[in-house]
Amino acid sequence: MRTQFIGAIGQNLTMTDPSAPGPWWRDAVIYEIYVRSFADGDGDGLGDLAGIRSRLPALADLGVDAVWLTPFYPSPQADGGYDVADYCDVDPRFGTLDDLDDLVATAHDLGLRVLIDIVPNHTSVEHEWFRAAVAGPGAPERDRYLFRPGRGPEGDEPPNDWRSVFGGPAWTRITEADGSPGPWYLHLFDGSQPDLDWTRDEVREAFDEVLRFWLDRGVDGFRIDVAHGLAKDPAMPDIGGRFARGGVAAEGHPHWDRDEVHDIYRRWRRVIDAYAGDRVFVAEAYLGGAHRLARYLRPDELHTAFNFDLLLAPWDADAFRGAIDDSIEHLAAVGATPTWVLSNHDMVRHLTRYSGGEVGRRRARAAALLLLALPGAAYLYQGEELGLPEVTDLPDAARQDPTFHRTKGREPGRDGCRVPIPWEGDEPSYGFGPTAASWLPQPADWAGLGRREQAEDPTSMLSLYREALRLRRPLPGPDEFAWIDAPSGVLAFGRGDGFSCVVNMGDDPVAWSPPAATPTIALSSAPVDPQGALPAATAVWFES
Ligand code: NOJ
Repeated sequence: MRTQFIGAIGQNLTMTDPSAPGPWWRDAVIYEIYVRSFADGDGDGLGDLAGIRSRLPALADLGVDAVWLTPFYPSPQADGGYDVADYCDVDPRFGTLDDLDDLVATAHDLGLRVLIDIVPNHTSVEHEWFRAAVAGPGAPERDRYLFRPGRGPEGDEPPNDWRSVFGGPAWTRITEADGSPGPWYLHLFDGSQPDLDWTRDEVREAFDEVLRFWLDRGVDGFRIDVAHGLAKDPAMPDIGGRFARGGVAAEGHPHWDRDEVHDIYRRWRRVIDAYAGDRVFVAEAYLGGAHRLARYLRPDELHTAFNFDLLLAPWDADAFRGAIDDSIEHLAAVGATPTWVLSNHDMVRHLTRYSGGEVGRRRARAAALLLLALPGAAYLYQGEELGLPEVTDLPDAARQDPTFHRTKGREPGRDGCRVPIPWEGDEPSYGFGPTAASWLPQPADWAGLGRREQAEDPTSMLSLYREALRLRRPLPGPDEFAWIDAPSGVLAFGRGDGFSCVVNMGDDPVAWSPPAATPTIALSSAPVDPQGALPAATAVWFES
C-alpha cells in the first residue's frame, strides 16, 4: 500500500522580490578553481593560468556562472599561495599579468564571471613590508604587523597563549639583524604568514589600492580569506579555557569575529561600489551560526558570505534542515542571499565525508540535487562534479600542507582534497597537463573519472551536475522556499509554484508519492519508480 506523505506546504519564505531581476550573484553557481590543481599548461606538474584558460570552455559547458580562483600571486607557497608576497602580480609559476588578463577576457567571452581571492589577514614573510619589518627595530613597517615583546625575564615566552589554526603557538620570535633576540610576531596561521595590524591607516589604504588594481583589470569580485580574523583585541588577553580551540568563532573572542572588522568592510564596500557591473564580495568567515554571518551582510557591508553550515553538517536530515532554516531566516533578515557549499580546498571531500565508496557516491549525488535546488547561490569545488573522493593515502613525503608538518603528522592536513583533477585518459596525469607530472600524486584508480569519459556517460556524476545546472534556471514562479511535510529522514521543499525537491537522506526506502502540485519528475539522483518506494539516499526534482 502506498502512503501519501508529501502534503501540506509550510510557511512560505520569500527570499527576493521575484519581480526584480537582481544582481547575477544572488542565485549564481560559482565554481572554485584551486589554481595549483585544475589544469597545468606547461607540463611542470603545477596548475597555471594558461591551463585554466584552455579548460574554461568545459566549465561553460557544465553550466556554471562564475569561477573563483584561489591565490595566484607571487608567494613562497608555504600555504598553497595563501602566503602572499605581492598582492598586485602573478607568480611566474602560474603565469603573468597578461595571462590573467587573457583568462578574464576568455571567461567573459564564455559568459563566465571571475572572482579572485584576497588575503588581508596576513602576508607572507617574503612580502616587502615584512622583510623591512625584520631588518631593524626602528623600521616603520614593523608597526604594520603585530610585534610584541615576549613574556618572562628573558622575553623568551610567547606574549600570550594564542594558538595557530595550523597547530602550535601563534607567535614566532625574530632575531634582530645584530643577532640579538627580538620581539615576537603574531601569526594565526603558519609562521610564514604574519598577521597585519588592521588598525593602521597605511594597511587599510594599501588594501584599497589592491582592490582597485584588480577591479580596474576587470575582475568581477573577491573572495575574502579569513574575513572574520582581521581585528584583534588590542589588550591581547590570554584565551585560557574560555573558547574551544579551532577556527569557529564565538562571541567575545579576542581575535575572531570582533566588531571592529565591520568598519573595514564598510570601507571596502565604498571602494567596490564605485565600479559598475555588479561586482561582489564573498566572505570566508567560520562563525558560530548564520546570525553572526548576517552582520557581515548588512546593506553597507559585504554582498555575500559562504555559509559553511551545510559543509559542517553530517549526512542527517535534521542537521541539514536546521542549517537551511538557520541560514534562510537570518540572512533574509538583512536582505542577503544565502550561499551553499558542500566542499572546498580546506575540507575532506564530501563524497568521502558521507562514508565514501558506493554509499558516499550515492549520497553525494543526492546532495548535489539538494544543493542546487536551494534558494540563493551555490559554490562547487573543482572535482565534486566528477565525483572525486578524498585521497587518503598520500605518502607523508608528498604532503605539503603546513597543518601536517606543524602537528608532526597528527593531522593529515588538506592535501587529500587538492590532488590535481583528471580530465581524460587512463594514466596520470589524466590530462591534468601535457606530461605525467603532478605536484601531488594522483591515484592509480582515477582512470575513467576524467571529464571526457564522464561526458559520454549519461549516468555519470558529471552528467548529473550538467543536467541539474541546465534545469536549475530559470526556476518557475516566484523565488519562494517552503518546506513540505515529509516523514523523518526525508527533506522536501517547494520553490515557487512549479518546482519541488524531495531527498530521502535515510538508509532505507520510504513509501511515497510525488507532491500533488508538482507531479512530474524532472531529474533524480538515482532511478526512481513513482509508483514504488523512494530509495535510500536519493533526491528527486519535480515540476508541475
Ligand atoms: C583559508 C583558506 O581557505 C586556507 O586554505 C588558508 O590556509 C587559510 N585561510 C589561511 O590563509
